[in-house]
Amino acid sequence: PRYIWLSRHGESEYNLGGQLGGDSNLSERGQMYAKKLPSLLQGALEQSVFPDGKVPELTVWTSTLKRTNQTARFLDYPKRSWKALDELDAGVCDGMTYEEIEQQYPEDFKARDDNKYEYRYRGGESYRDIVIRLEPIIMELERQENIMIVTHQAVLRCLYAYFMNVPQDQSPWMQVPLHSLIRLELRAFDTIETRISADI
Ligand code: G3H
Repeated sequence: PRYIWLSRHGESEYNLGGQLGGDSNLSERGQMYAKKLPSLLQGALEQSVFPDGKVPELTVWTSTLKRTNQTARFLDYPKRSWKALDELDAGVCDGMTYEEIEQQYPEDFKARDDNKYEYRYRGGESYRDIVIRLEPIIMELERQENIMIVTHQAVLRCLYAYFMNVPQDQSPWMQVPLHSLIRLELRAFDTIETRISADI
């Protein structure tokens, strides 16, 4: 089998206020997760079975945003940051809360509710747009044996759906909570998932 490790960034300052997007720092709780992540990962790696019995070198991929880099800060592995892993671009709604969007752009709010996969924020992106920009990431992942990805909720939902063989248009409803490490064990015909909560 091959393994892909998935995690959202730790809680950010924007998460605390329910704001979308931005490029904020981790909250204190988010920083606690960052500190706990190396031991969480190490423990799970020790319980993973690799083909020839030895663990292939792990590489950590992050987005270009501060919150994923801060979350990966204490992971002592080679790192690579990808713009293609940045969070869904909420365009004119970047930095707003859902309540503010509902008030200022009621039609958009409803349109998104009606079709969350296709809805594209004004000046921003849809889930479908993310699926398309993830193609090079997925191609590269298919060639790798042991990658840890620290990225954002919408992006993780799309990656998760892809590897779990869930239709892409179901991506917006995948459950990817904060402060949990997801291990995907990719086998010839299916994927086995294990979730490890950091209890923070
Ligand atoms: O905007 C980015 C969020 O991580 C995704 O949340 O698609 O459920 O609004 P949402």
